Amino acid sequence: MTILGIDTSCDDTAIAVLEEKEGEFKVLSNVISSQVKLHQKYGGVYPSLAKREHKKNLPIVFEKALKKTGIKEVDYFAVTIGPGLDPCLWEGINFIKKRADKSIIPVNHMEAHILINFLEEKPEKVLPALSLVVSGGHTQLVLIKKIANYKIIGETRDDAAGECFDKTARILGLSYPGGPAIAKEAEEESSLSIDLPRPMINTKDYDFSFSGLKTAVLYDFKKRNKKVRESKEYIRAMAREIQQAIIDVLIKKTLKVAKEYEIENIILGGGVSANKKLGQQLRKNKEFKFWIPQPRLCTDNGLMIALTGYFNKDKAVKNFREIKSKPNLRLC
Ligand code: KG4
Ligand code: ZN
Repeated sequence: MTILGIDTSCDDTAIAVLEEKEGEFKVLSNVISSQVKLHQKYGGVYPSLAKREHKKNLPIVFEKALKKTGIKEVDYFAVTIGPGLDPCLWEGINFIKKRADKSIIPVNHMEAHILINFLEEKPEKVLPALSLVVSGGHTQLVLIKKIANYKIIGETRDDAAGECFDKTARILGLSYPGGPAIAKEAEEESSLSIDLPRPMINTKDYDFSFSGLKTAVLYDFKKRNKKVRESKEYIRAMAREIQQAIIDVLIKKTLKVAKEYEIENIILGGGVSANKKLGQQLRKNKEFKFWIPQPRLCTDNGLMIALTGYFNKDKAVKNFREIKSKPNLRLC
């Protein structure tokens, strides 16, 4: 069985083709056209601009993804219907409606960030599990009994972890997306040391809050003189502390849930799970087993949509009019 997956939820036009044979997966193609350079100028994603780029890129990425496989037709089409930017989601949905002849599998982007872990690992081996989903728009702790059986245990009350990386990077004058830019600066030595808060780290609940961290960064930045705040020493020290503050909160809350719910397996997903330090520090907790996708599968890609389409093939829709963008779609 072959499935073509499309994601246009944000600033990447991503299409992949996946083949499944007797429960084993083979990646036939995985093409991503990134709009990062375009959005860098604005320090974030502009929905109308992103929509225009998707429209332009979709036919090119589609041809490329199919050509690489050597096959002419696929058995299924899967497309992200949400959550994401409404105009961008519609581009992907309308594009595939024109090309699909049989049925389309609507896919939840957040579920796809979780299920990409099952490209190489059988779900039976990992589930039940706790998933930490950390992307540009979401930070959620999800209990997964089995595929399609999800319970959100905790989530952010304001900014997502990725959003915090992006916004604080912008304050420091670093490029978009902020996560990789901050991670890079944080690797460099600095003689300066800065203390930032770890919001909600010790609260009894399982929720997160990252907007206070962003505000603390802004206050610190504003109180420094121009020479200091533009110095490498300051930017590196700040980057290191921002990254560590986010990691500390994510790890503390994740392990708290895992312990209280007696769960051994923890799976990560979403752009922030590409953060090397987060993975390294999580893995020091030997009483748990961790699954983290390879970095290029942590961030948005079409493969996770194709794979999630496979696991949801019983939800394939024949009447295409039923398929609509759902920008605020939730996991459960
Ligand atoms: O999952 P994703 O590609 O898109 C959304 O669904 O939002 O996540 C993008 C987010 C951005 O906020 C970006 O700064 C962050 O993931 N990110 C990282 C890293 N790579 C991407 N954050 C921390 N460290 C990274 N290495
Ligand atoms: Zn994503």
